[in-house]
Amino acid sequence: MASVGALSLCAAAASAQTTVGFSQIGSESGWRAAETTVTMQEAETRGITLQFSDAQQRQENQIAALRSFIAQGVDAILVSPVVATGWDSVLEEAAEAEIPVVLLDRMVDSSPDLYLTAVGSDLVHEGRVAGEWLVEAVAGEPCRVVELQGTTGSSPAIDRKAGFEEGIAGADNIEIVRSQTGDFTRAQGKTVMEAFLQAENGGADICALYAHNDDMAVGAIQAIKEAGLVPGEDILVVSIDAVPDIFQALAAGEANATVELTPNMAGPAFDALAAYFADGTMPEKFIQTESRLFTQADDPQGEYDRHKDLGY
Ligand code: AHR
Repeated sequence: MASVGALSLCAAAASAQTTVGFSQIGSESGWRAAETTVTMQEAETRGITLQFSDAQQRQENQIAALRSFIAQGVDAILVSPVVATGWDSVLEEAAEAEIPVVLLDRMVDSSPDLYLTAVGSDLVHEGRVAGEWLVEAVAGEPCRVVELQGTTGSSPAIDRKAGFEEGIAGADNIEIVRSQTGDFTRAQGKTVMEAFLQAENGGADICALYAHNDDMAVGAIQAIKEAGLVPGEDILVVSIDAVPDIFQALAAGEANATVELTPNMAGPAFDALAAYFADGTMPEKFIQTESRLFTQADDPQGEYDRHKDLGY
């Protein structure tokens, strides 16, 4: 099996122009769109030619894009893998072609030898922070939680679920009563929340919503309002990403907490590639970005303004 450690330094070190292929999942969420924008900006700032491919949520499109990048002989590949499994063959092909691959924001269950590094947050930690926030917020009162999961089989859906369960472990007053995928989209978040509300006595039996991303939370907030309930009060809302729309919801009192996921994964990825091309420096296998909790007490209007100024 080829591995990244066996790669020789590629021509990019010496050439004036580095070409990087980027296989993006799609544009399912505001966060995803922000990551695409930031990656393009980072490439432009560094004079990198970025070959962008939108997989429209389909792994087979991502695998085809990676094969096309390999055939073109790009200097490196960035990929945000839609699901965690099924990457071994194409990663082996990249390693055989001596093209380093960097994972962005989502993990794969292939051998770490098959990629140069992964840039992302601690996804389990994010879920745990959300769960611990809820434990404090309900202060021992009984709380029936509905959960909107991300894309089935994706590392954030798997890890954020596990992390949240860890965060509420030991709080016998809190129970996840319904859990279903909303595929990380606003539309699905709304549809699935409508079903949850209907199944839970019009929402009267729901104490809190945990959504694996802000977009699903925003869709669910709309469903809660249409059911005649007050999001943020009748049903607590905690989610993950910290995109501008959730800061607006926090400022309006319609959401209660979010855990930040920075969309700038490309900066650390390009830094790692630059060092690797310069003198063969091998980066850590996992380059962790920071995550922090924001609540209604953390100046959400100011955060919204700041994020809008940044353009994401
Ligand atoms: O992989 C990161 C997740 O993917 C983000 O939380 C979500 O918004 C996106 O679609």
